[in-house]
Amino acid sequence: MEKLVIEGGKPLHGEVKISGAKNAALPLIAAALLAPGVHVLHNVPDLRDTRTILRLLESLGLTWERLGATLRIDGSGLKYSEASYDLVKTMRASILVLGPLLARLGRAKVSLPGGCAIGARPINFHLMGFEQLGVQCELEHGYVDAHIDGRMHGGTVCFDIPSVTGTENLLMAASLARGTTNIKNAAREPEIGNLVDMLIAMGADIEGKDSDRLTVHGVEKLTAAESTIIPDRIEAGTYAIAAGAAGGDAVIQNCEPSHLPSLLEKLQLAGIGVDVGDTFFRVTAPKGVNTIRPVDVTTMPYPGYPTDLQAQFMALMACSNGVSVIHETIFENRFMHVAELQRMGAHIQVDGRIAMVKGAGANALTGAQVMATDLRASSSLVIAGLAAQGRTDISRIYHLERGYEDMVEKLTGLGATVWKEEE
Ligand code: EPZ
Repeated sequence: MEKLVIEGGKPLHGEVKISGAKNAALPLIAAALLAPGVHVLHNVPDLRDTRTILRLLESLGLTWERLGATLRIDGSGLKYSEASYDLVKTMRASILVLGPLLARLGRAKVSLPGGCAIGARPINFHLMGFEQLGVQCELEHGYVDAHIDGRMHGGTVCFDIPSVTGTENLLMAASLARGTTNIKNAAREPEIGNLVDMLIAMGADIEGKDSDRLTVHGVEKLTAAESTIIPDRIEAGTYAIAAGAAGGDAVIQNCEPSHLPSLLEKLQLAGIGVDVGDTFFRVTAPKGVNTIRPVDVTTMPYPGYPTDLQAQFMALMACSNGVSVIHETIFENRFMHVAELQRMGAHIQVDGRIAMVKGAGANALTGAQVMATDLRASSSLVIAGLAAQGRTDISRIYHLERGYEDMVEKLTGLGATVWKEEE
């Protein structure tokens, strides 16, 4: 296994180009199951997770080819409806094939994703929604066995909690149902709007994009279309926070600043300069040692502060000059990075879903050997390593490679001293 080595304590300077969003690429790749013909997707990041879902589509009978950041996926060959445990256990988002398989074949047997480091990750909202559309779902031997005789019918789906992939699964299923489906308390993340645009380009009839109330008028069939993945707002936010924590002046390019309303506000409250353009924003950390101000954060569904940027912000707050409170309201166990940050000198106290961070200034952290536990926790350790005095070795970086394309090259382009080594 490989580890990432960072010689920290150096400010970041320069530009970083943001890749396509992992959490848009996954549902849009899954949507290729909905129609025969060649779907073209532009700006697709080449990540461990996108390679996983493409392997899953292959196992269902589809073929694909990658030409740089463009994917061509042929949905014609679909002939199987079972997603095996081996593939699904490595990536929860594999559950996104359920809706398209039910829409196209009327049946789907998908391994339950199981939990992961950040929580139990149930899929009850997905299954409840499919049952509203007439699907029968049985859970046995660790699999969801779902089927319907004929086409799904429209219905009303109301989510207790706005589920991102739950909304995406129901959108894809309802697009080919007979009649109209109303999705209430839908998630509003920009990645869902990206999927709505692709489905409409394929011939779907959907109203309410970017709102918490989606109306889908089912159509008889969909056709392959050409789409572009939106920029990865979580990758952009990760590099912006890194520039704040390590100090310096960085331009985050090829992104959508409007997709990060809460983070940009929190960075400014922390005393970090943020200048926003159309497709970029510039982050300038304040000069001097103790100038990052403490800021409280509560994670919320979009457009609130993203849970996927919580761990990263905690690393920044460890370098602030006061006490901040971080409240994780989305997942029950998303503080796996705390123990590792503490080994680097961070002063953090956790009580349930609340972490109190006692910042000790820009020199608070020292390099150490740490271990990545999940995707965003590992990016938090990278940020801490960039800010820390001395060398940090981060093991199990396959977690990082699930969601960050070319991170070593991008950080090196910002002036960081970072490389990979065999563990
Ligand atoms: C998506 O996961 C993202 N993944 C996650 O990003 C992100 O953290 C999460 O949304 C929240 O924004 C992808 O888009 C591929 P949810 P998802 O359903 O859809 C509970 C990353 O780092 N819930 O919105 O799985 C659930 O336990 C990943 O890129 C149920 O109880 O999350 C959680 O507490 C991590 N039953 C809350 O709802 C369900 O059926 C929100 O989960 C579904 C969800």
